[in-house]
Amino acid sequence: MKIGVLGTGMVGTTLATRLVGLGHDVMLASRDGRSEAAANWLAEQAGGAATGSFAEAARHGEVIILAVRGDAALAAIAASGPDRLAGKVLLNISNPLDFSQGFPPRMIPELSNTTSLSEAVQAAAPAARVVNSLNTMNAALMVNPDALAGAHDVFVCGDDEAAKEVVAGLLGEFGWTAPVDLGPLRAARGTEGMMPVWLALFGRLGHANFNYRINIGAKP
Ligand SMILES: NC(=O)c1ccc[n+]([C@@H]2O[C@H](COP(=O)([O-])OP(=O)(O)OC[C@H]3O[C@@H](n4cnc5c(N)ncnc54)[C@H](OP(=O)(O)O)[C@@H]3O)[C@@H](O)[C@H]2O)c1
Repeated sequence: MKIGVLGTGMVGTTLATRLVGLGHDVMLASRDGRSEAAANWLAEQAGGAATGSFAEAARHGEVIILAVRGDAALAAIAASGPDRLAGKVLLNISNPLDFSQGFPPRMIPELSNTTSLSEAVQAAAPAARVVNSLNTMNAALMVNPDALAGAHDVFVCGDDEAAKEVVAGLLGEFGWTAPVDLGPLRAARGTEGMMPVWLALFGRLGHANFNYRINIGAKP
């Protein structure tokens, strides 16, 4: 599958590497299309890989993955060109975090609580089929759930059921067998809102090798 990955940080490069390894045709995108991080990533890939600008990756991909700084996500959508995203599955992994005051970051008020970054991305690219997933864990676990012993979960939400199935297919390729479907995209208010808990645990443990687990019992 042709996949455009917007973002050259830990998430973008980790996902792009795994997707190339799985045989996908991946373009990793930075703002100017020539970032050092993207060039370093490309140098490590055997084949099935390219780099480009956000607009070029938006054109390239049948599926687009958005993994940029939360406060830059809407700028990345604007640079991609909402028209190029029309009809495409757009998986948002970005969280609405503001690191400008240091660590721990705060949730960006206008992108949380009564809305979410994923919903803002959908509003900015109305014809895209936005799905939110994978944002509740460290990048290494996203593509390799077996790295953490025991059962643990990935969430998925979105308004387009077929788009969610496409994302579930990719999750399956990573090793996720049963994503927890939270329903419509507004559920991203919850998954993105899990960040303060994740950050508190990260601060206590001093590492990121942990994840959430949902146990669902019979209806009482
Ligand atoms: N790190 C994790 O394990 C993890 C886990 C879950 C969720 N997340 C979320 O995933 C997203 C990506 O995280 P990350 O750690 O991989 O990388 P990051 O450092 O948060 O983001 C790097 C990307 O943001 C882009 N960027 C920075 N300023 C920008 C601007 N003004 N306009 C447009 N793009 C801009 C950079 O573009 P250039 O390439 O041009 O420099 C780069 O591609 C974040 O929203 C984060 O909260 C991260």
